[in-house]
Amino acid sequence: MQSFKNSSEFLHEIDKETNMRRPLIAGNWKMNKTLTEAIEFALALQDRLSDVVGVDVLLCVPFTFQNSISKILKDSLIEIGGQNLYWEEKGAFTGEISGLMLESVGCNFVIAGHSERRHIFGETNEEVNKKIKAALKSYLTPIFCVGETLEERESEKTEDILEEQVTLGLNGVSEEGILKTVIAYEPVWAIGTGRNATPSQANEAHIFIRGLLKNLYNEEVSERIRILYGGSVNPDNIKDLMKEPNIDGVLVGGASLNVDSFEKIVKHYE
Ligand code: PGA
Repeated sequence: MQSFKNSSEFLHEIDKETNMRRPLIAGNWKMNKTLTEAIEFALALQDRLSDVVGVDVLLCVPFTFQNSISKILKDSLIEIGGQNLYWEEKGAFTGEISGLMLESVGCNFVIAGHSERRHIFGETNEEVNKKIKAALKSYLTPIFCVGETLEERESEKTEDILEEQVTLGLNGVSEEGILKTVIAYEPVWAIGTGRNATPSQANEAHIFIRGLLKNLYNEEVSERIRILYGGSVNPDNIKDLMKEPNIDGVLVGGASLNVDSFEKIVKHYE
């Protein structure tokens, strides 16, 4: 019997029934929880989401929990993802984790270029690009994060920054590759601050990103790609964010750590 889900089943960015982009609600636990707490959360969430349909749900959890949690969740709709990866397949890279390793413990997704990786650990656009390519090579769906700082927004550089991050991050990524990629627009000033972008600010940025994808690839790509919003998403603002036509889901940090609030975010349509 297979212990994990088969990754090829999850590239369903377009809903077969509605022919629309399927919403994706993703949690990013960052460096939080112990294994016991993580297992407790997974069991509770699985139970509470057993009747959910029409939405994809993903938890990006620390490396050390992925194996246990993906086994627990193998028959549920909840996917497991990593929060980072290294671009080499194997070798003398102490402390790093490859795409193949993530895949081998049941991950189908991985975050690449989260702003905390960019700002705290100095990840460059070129490194993010290598990570996206490595993820795709390992059959993982990259969640490619982009977003401007407050200073960049206030000096009206948001579009330049997004253009630079998207163009360099996707350099050499094929059309097949981009169609398997999810983009997350996460303005740095909204992450963990309690100050979310307004739904229209987020929608505008998503439209801008779709325009970039149209130039880099084509119209079909720009229409099919799911673009998530991230930054202080919570049960109170999810409905308004999801009403925007170009917001296809969310990447949730703080509010994904609590089962009640994450359940409410997933079930925002009720
Ligand atoms: P937040 O984090 O929801 O706590 O703002 C979002 C993220 O970093 O992905």
